[in-house]
Amino acid sequence: MKRHFLSIALCLAFPVVASFACGGKKPHVQDQTPTETVADAGAEDAEAPPPAPKSLYERLGKKEGITAVVESFVKNVAADTAVNKSFAKTKGPKMDHFKQMMVEQLCEATGGDCKYTGKPMKEAHKGMKITEKQWDAIVTDLKLALDENKVGEAEKTDLFALLAPMKDEIVEVKAKK
Ligand code: HEM
Repeated sequence: MKRHFLSIALCLAFPVVASFACGGKKPHVQDQTPTETVADAGAEDAEAPPPAPKSLYERLGKKEGITAVVESFVKNVAADTAVNKSFAKTKGPKMDHFKQMMVEQLCEATGGDCKYTGKPMKEAHKGMKITEKQWDAIVTDLKLALDENKVGEAEKTDLFALLAPMKDEIVEVKAKK
């Protein structure tokens, strides 16, 4: 009787250890495998390096996104009386070449895997007597094209920061102060 009480007390005090001896089920092998604790969760993620920031080229939708912006841009330029006279002879294969050069230039400048094969900006616009007013008009046409293609504000700001230094190479007629 005394031994019986002792074994009951043991079983109650150490239920896990004594579970088999006390008639309980032997723990299944799977039950013994360590499981991920809440503290462990995400530990691997914390050690992984943060993803590389996306290039402006990627954020613009790569070649496809840039091509769509250039298509909208040339339409806006054609409708813009402040600049369209300058492009009067830019038709057919000449227009195809101009669009191709714009895509290559924007692709390379924004970090894409492209090589701009056109002329340097100063050479390309030499003797055109481009005014600051025309520069502003082209910038507006491009802004509109970016809006039409739902390009974000941060991307627009980054793109114009890349294009701004070209102003001195393109504008030949400075506005009088
Ligand atoms: C953000 C400013 C500008 C950029 C990025 C730009 C870019 C270019 C590029 C890449 C070319 C092609 C060069 C080549 O054929 O090798 C080009 C040509 C030309 N650009 Fe610009 N340009 C800008 C502003 C202007 C402005 C303000 C005007 C005048 C209103 C203008 C008028 C022209 C004309 C007439 C051509 C020659 C097109 C042809 O080949 O028929 N550009 N530009």
